[in-house]
Amino acid sequence: PLPATQIHQMLQQQWGDALLQRLHVIGRIAANLGTPAYLVGGCVRDFLQNHPVPDIDLAIEGDVRAVAEACSAELSGVQCTYHAHFGTAILQYPDGFQLDLARCRIEHYPAPAALPEVQPAAIQTDLIRRDFTINAMAISLDPEKFGDFLDPYGGRADLQRRLLRVLHPHSFLDDPTRILRGLRFAVRFQLQLEANTRGLLEEALTQDIFARLSGARLWRELKYLLELSDLPAALEELGAWQLWPLLRPTPLEVESLLAKIRRGQQEIRWLHCHFPDEKLCDTAVLLTILWRDIPWAEAEKRLHYWPVADGRYILNDLHRLSKIPAALAAASHPSAVAQLWESLSLPGILALLAEYPESATITESGRYYLLKQRGLTSPLNGKDLQAMGLAPGPQLGTVLRRLHDARLDGAIKDKETARQWLIRQGILPSTQP
Ligand code: CTP
Repeated sequence: PLPATQIHQMLQQQWGDALLQRLHVIGRIAANLGTPAYLVGGCVRDFLQNHPVPDIDLAIEGDVRAVAEACSAELSGVQCTYHAHFGTAILQYPDGFQLDLARCRIEHYPAPAALPEVQPAAIQTDLIRRDFTINAMAISLDPEKFGDFLDPYGGRADLQRRLLRVLHPHSFLDDPTRILRGLRFAVRFQLQLEANTRGLLEEALTQDIFARLSGARLWRELKYLLELSDLPAALEELGAWQLWPLLRPTPLEVESLLAKIRRGQQEIRWLHCHFPDEKLCDTAVLLTILWRDIPWAEAEKRLHYWPVADGRYILNDLHRLSKIPAALAAASHPSAVAQLWESLSLPGILALLAEYPESATITESGRYYLLKQRGLTSPLNGKDLQAMGLAPGPQLGTVLRRLHDARLDGAIKDKETARQWLIRQGILPSTQP
C-alpha cells in the first residue's frame, strides 16, 4: 500500500508545489460543500508511472456545479464552465492551466454499445464503471485525508506487472471503444492483455461488436490510434488482436507497410517542422499509405464517417497515385511535372514521398514542388551551378538538394548568399569571382 504521506511527497516532487497548492485549495472548497474531490483516472495512472504532468481529471462526490462555481468565486481569475448535460465542469486558470471536473457516477448501458444512462454515485462505484484497472484508481484531495490512495481493483499491481485488465465481464460489450482504447494503452505503456481480458476480447469480437457502434465514435478512436507516435507498434498490435478489418479488408503486410508508415511519419514531421503554420491532416497521410493496396471501394466504405473534405481528397489521391510514378518519369516539361503534383492533395504528396524513398525522380521532384509552392527553392538552379564551373551529373543534383535545404533552414536567401555558402561548404573554390 502507498501511504498518503508518500503520495503527497511524490506529488510534490513530480507536479511541483504550485499545482499541489491548487489541489489543496480545491480539496478544501469541495470538502466545505460536503462533496469530496478526488484525482481520478488517467492522471493517477500517469502519476504512478512518473510521466510528465498529465491532463488532470477530478471526480466530485456530489454537485460539480457548486464546487466549480465556489472555486471560481474564491479564486481570482479562475473561470468556470459548466456542462449540465454531462454533469462536468472545466476550471480555467489565468495562466492557461485547466482542470476537468466530473460528478462521480454509475453507468447503465441500456443496450450493448449504446450511450450509457448515468446516476450519481460514490467514488468506489464510480471507479468500477471504468474501462481498465489501471484507470480505476483515485487519490483523495480531502483536507482530512489528502493523498489517500484508492485502488480497490489492483490497478497499481497491474501497472507494475504490465497487465491490461477490464473490471467486469461486460466491459467491452457495454462500450466497444474500450477495445481500441485498450490497444492504445497496451502500446503506450507496453502492457499485455491479462488472460481473462483476452478471452473477453475474443468473445466480444465474435459478436461483431463494432458494427453496433456509431461510425463517428469508432473513427474518433481510430484517429487517436493513428496519432500514436509508435504507430508501427500499434498496427502490429492491431493485427495481433485481430482488429485489422477495422482499417483494411486484408491483414497488414507488416514489414514493408510499417517501413512506409515510419517514413510517412517522418514526412509529416518534416512538414510540421518547416511549415508549422500549415494545415495538414496527418491521419490522411497515414490512411493513404495504409490504403494504397486495397480496393478503392473498401477505402470509400471506411471513409463514410470521415470529415467530408479530407475523405474526398484521400479517395481522389488513391485513384491517381498509382499512375503518378510512370507519368513523372515520362513527363518532358517542368510544367507537366508540376501538373502531376498539383493533381494530388498535400497528404497524397507526402504519402508518395514515403512510398518511394529510393526514387530520385519522385523524391527530388516532389520535394522541389513542395518548396517551390512555398517560395523556398534554391536561388541557384542547375544552369547557374554549371556556369559557376560545376560539372553536370548526379552530384549536381546533390548540391541542388543541399541548397534547397539551406534555403529552408534560412542559411541562404539569394544568389549571392548562396554563392558564399557554396564557398564555405568547399563546393566552390574560394577564388570564385
Ligand atoms: N473511461 C472509461 N471508458 C471509456 C472512456 C473513459 O472508463 N470508454 C474512463 C477511464 O477511467 C479513463 C477516464 O475515463 O481513465 C478518462 O478518460 P480519457 O480522458 O479519455 O483517458 P485517460 O485515461 O485520461 O487517458 P489519456 O492519457 O489517453 O487522456
